[in-house]
Amino acid sequence: MSPLAEAALRARENAHAPFSHFKVGAALEDVAGNVFTGCNIENATYGLTLCAERVAVFKAVSEGARKFARIAIAAATEDLTPPCGACRQILWEFCGDIELTLVNPAGKTETLRLGSLFPRPFDAGFL
Ligand code: THU
Repeated sequence: MSPLAEAALRARENAHAPFSHFKVGAALEDVAGNVFTGCNIENATYGLTLCAERVAVFKAVSEGARKFARIAIAAATEDLTPPCGACRQILWEFCGDIELTLVNPAGKTETLRLGSLFPRPFDAGFL
């Protein structure tokens, strides 16, 4: 398993998911090799919950990173968990057609590109 997938699995352990009990981790690597991790952080209002992927992207952007190489996303499902629709939009805007590795704690992985999950995206090019 890649170090990035292992980092996503480790980040998953920090998930704050008292409502869904569904823990997700993400690890985003920029082109310089810096890794930014995230986990889902739930809220009693439910709607204010942040997904692991968006936490990782926003941490990275807030620290000045702008060019990204790949992301790993970890959840404990046999059918590997893909990013939700909102995260696909955010990932597209900041990372473009990034390489995505989905992973579970049993070590199952799948690598694909965001474009295959998010065809015909809306982005700044339309504005
Ligand atoms: N979740 C993520 O962190 N990433 C996804 O792409 C899918 C969903 C979180 C949000 C919520 O805390 C829990 O998983 C159940 O939806």
